[in-house]
Amino acid sequence: MTDQSTCVQNLTFDLESYLQARKAIIEKALDQSLPIAEPPVIYEAMRYSLLAGGKRLRPILCLATCELVGGTIEMAMPTACALEMIHTMSLIHDDLPAMDNDDYRRGQLTNHKKYGEDIAILAGDGLLAYAFEYVAAQTQGVNPSSVLRVIAKLGHTVGATGLVGGQVLDLASEGNPDISLETLNYIHTHKTGALLEACVVTGAILGEASEETLAALSRYAYNIGLAFQIIDDILDITATQEELGKTAGKDVEADKATYPRLLGLEASKAKADELIEAACAEMSPYGDAGVPLKAIAQLIANRKN
Ligand code: FPP
Ligand code: MG
Repeated sequence: MTDQSTCVQNLTFDLESYLQARKAIIEKALDQSLPIAEPPVIYEAMRYSLLAGGKRLRPILCLATCELVGGTIEMAMPTACALEMIHTMSLIHDDLPAMDNDDYRRGQLTNHKKYGEDIAILAGDGLLAYAFEYVAAQTQGVNPSSVLRVIAKLGHTVGATGLVGGQVLDLASEGNPDISLETLNYIHTHKTGALLEACVVTGAILGEASEETLAALSRYAYNIGLAFQIIDDILDITATQEELGKTAGKDVEADKATYPRLLGLEASKAKADELIEAACAEMSPYGDAGVPLKAIAQLIANRKN
């Protein structure tokens, strides 16, 4: 995918080392963000899912855009951790029996399988609340009005205007695969795209980006967000449980509308490639500074899990 693209031209950039280094500092920051306290069981359950690995794509994006606009990693790290807390809580709740009823996530038992449904619900709630506290209490060296803007953005992203709204329509579409492409795009851009957009935009807000740059980054994020979910739909069909670290074939089993179902596999891949190209094009004016974000876009197109 995307072999001839504007994305690859510059890639003397060593994406693998970049991602590895970023992942290491993020893992450390996440570990330190949430020490065990009383009552231990809830902290253990929160840490169990928060520290279960994963690509850490969301915090990496937040740090990358802060740096792109001249900010530092330190300015964005509390928000980067908060975004991973929010992502993790959304997956804990998504996996519950009342929603997708999944047993495996990131290669290990889901939170409710390990701790029970009651604790899993509370672990999700705890992570969500702590994410907001963490941004407000831990962000340093940033204009307070920018921190407030980030907090408002996070609220808008997780609520009915974002993840919650997307998840409601996603659940309603189970057993109803004949929904329109417009509704499917709504689900994908809200359930998945909104949080990726928040990662990209909050990093840039913390780095005091101009409104013009924020708009370009928001368009970049829209494109990678939709592409990410189209690839997710494709992998649900083409990848194995071992590759994914979670149950494969769930969309077909739940009779869900997906891109491959509406457009076919080839056209879905083509659409994802087109979106990645568009995302890279948004970064072209930023020259070398935009290369990490182009490379991350490409990674999304080529991901296997
Ligand atoms: C995974 O999708 C789930 C999401 C991307 C988000 C789900 C959102 C919620 C449960 C709402 C969370 C609540 C708040 C307050 C943020 P999927 O089921 O398509 O993918 P999967 O195969 O990885 O489970
Ligand atoms: Mg799910």
